[in-house]
Amino acid sequence: MLRALTWTGTSLRYIDQTKLPLEESVIETTDYRDVVQAIKRLAIRGAPAIGVAGAFAAALAAREFARLSSVYFTAELKKVVDDIRTARPTAVNLRWALDRMCLVLSSSSNEPPELIAERMVQRAQEILHDDEERCRAIGENGAPLLKDGWDILTHCNTGALATAGDGTALNVIRTAAERGKHLHVFVDETRPLLQGARLTTWELRRLSIPHTLITDGMGAFLMQQGRVNAVIVGADRIAMNGDTVNKVGTYSVALAALYHRIPFFVAAPLTTVDASAASGKEIPIEERGADEITTIRNGSCGVAVAPKGTAVYAPAFDMTPADLITAIITDGGVVHPPYEESLRKLMEDEKGDS
Ligand code: MRU
Repeated sequence: MLRALTWTGTSLRYIDQTKLPLEESVIETTDYRDVVQAIKRLAIRGAPAIGVAGAFAAALAAREFARLSSVYFTAELKKVVDDIRTARPTAVNLRWALDRMCLVLSSSSNEPPELIAERMVQRAQEILHDDEERCRAIGENGAPLLKDGWDILTHCNTGALATAGDGTALNVIRTAAERGKHLHVFVDETRPLLQGARLTTWELRRLSIPHTLITDGMGAFLMQQGRVNAVIVGADRIAMNGDTVNKVGTYSVALAALYHRIPFFVAAPLTTVDASAASGKEIPIEERGADEITTIRNGSCGVAVAPKGTAVYAPAFDMTPADLITAIITDGGVVHPPYEESLRKLMEDEKGDS
């Protein structure tokens, strides 16, 4: 069983995803600063995994500060939580997880720091198990939508590497395949950081699911040739009207799918839905450094692919409007348009359950 993140009781173990597929490097740390850096440099990536890692970063910081007096403990921890919150701005799962960690802090403010720190460790573990369970439910709920014999196109990486469990969109494919459906996956390479080429192919190979790697510009042509039956992608943040922010390039795939009348599915846990965002326009889009586009990186080696000083625009994500999305597959069920109603209902049920 592949796990991107594991808690040992004293430390967080994570796969350094910048090294894949060349090297399977596992890092173990008790230092929250390492975890924050790992999120920033995409060694830990994918919206749900970022949320879980953020929770453990807060828990590790709490353990480190537990020797301080109550006042300093709370003040230092709040500073660190603010820093973790901004490590990556788009995936709302990070905010979701840290809000839950802060609830522990605010509800036990009269307790000794050591006790609060242990409660925070406990809460981070709960967040990890919660994500595993949500991934499982997404797979179960989505698998019936994929028909035997289908060719499916996906963008970015949404498998076990992107979560604390078995993944979101890729877990729908995995679950359907496990149930005996014969599926083939077209994997977008996902420029600029090649999450599709480096990570999704690596996972699909381990799962023995047939797949073909394509460049990001090829999907529309395959659809025109009648070679794609459905598209399934993940999400970093979903607004209440169903607008979905995901890895840059997703929007172009959705436009092509609509033109060719191919179903376009989004799969994500309800922790990726931002109840405070009415539409996608309110979702912040992270911009990354120019070097991620002007060089192609494999491990620590970068090869320049553009003249020095070339002007670059590097949004990490784009927004797919809700009217291009056939259905959103969540752990709480599959919803269809109008998402204003269907998502609101799911989010109300989620609140009722928690
Ligand atoms: O920049 P990344 O690699 O963190 O972006 C990841 C994606 O866009 C995924 O599609 C999304 O987080 C869903 S992961 C289950």
